[in-house]
Amino acid sequence: MFLFLHRWIWHDPGRRARKLFDFAETEADGGRDLVRAAELTQDRTLRRLYMLHAADESRHADLFRTRGTALRRALPASVSTPFQLNWVSPGERGLDDLRVQAESDASLLAFLHLSEKSAAGHFATYVDALKTDPLTSAVFQEVLKDETFHMNYTLAQLARVAPKRHRLVLWRARLGRLWKAYLRVMSAIAAVMGTVILTLQYFILLPPFALLAKRAERREPQGWTPVSPERERPLESQY
Ligand SMILES: [Fe+2]
Ligand SMILES: [Fe+2]
Repeated sequence: MFLFLHRWIWHDPGRRARKLFDFAETEADGGRDLVRAAELTQDRTLRRLYMLHAADESRHADLFRTRGTALRRALPASVSTPFQLNWVSPGERGLDDLRVQAESDASLLAFLHLSEKSAAGHFATYVDALKTDPLTSAVFQEVLKDETFHMNYTLAQLARVAPKRHRLVLWRARLGRLWKAYLRVMSAIAAVMGTVILTLQYFILLPPFALLAKRAERREPQGWTPVSPERERPLESQY
């Protein structure tokens, strides 16, 4: 979807490198959370799968970081990085705000399944959008294989641990993601409104005060002025 937009976003090499470093952070963070999930679960199969999953996320972090470093090295030293637009083309979003200890096995699997599904969709788009940079495209192709496996095993395990209510758990997780997306959009709108209101205040409210200050300055006597005799006390305190 919107392939042309993603092509434009990924076209700039400085932005491309910056985004890969950001994605690497998210993957590494997700890997750490999955190790924590493996420690907390009582289910042996899930513990083993979470550890494999954590190793994959850590490898993804290395892949993104290595490619980001290669791109950064090829850039001239003085190049500036344009804004990253991560809200349009995010990394493995979801893994970044995982609260492992607050989740049951079923709700964590549902959450992971949706995050991995969304990441797989995004990464498949980036593989196409990066056709002009085959090395970066190959990195996403490589990561995409694992994300597809993560997406599938989490759904299969959810059906195993909650055979009767896995659909309900999935819907609850979907609503949770929707709510978070709503909060993200609202905070972005609030940030824009804050900038607009402060800019208007700067141009509308400040000029009258500046004019009053200038008028007051004109009324001030120039140069040294004699001090009245009653203020000419010896300096014993600051008052
Ligand atoms: Fe990943
Ligand atoms: Fe993943």
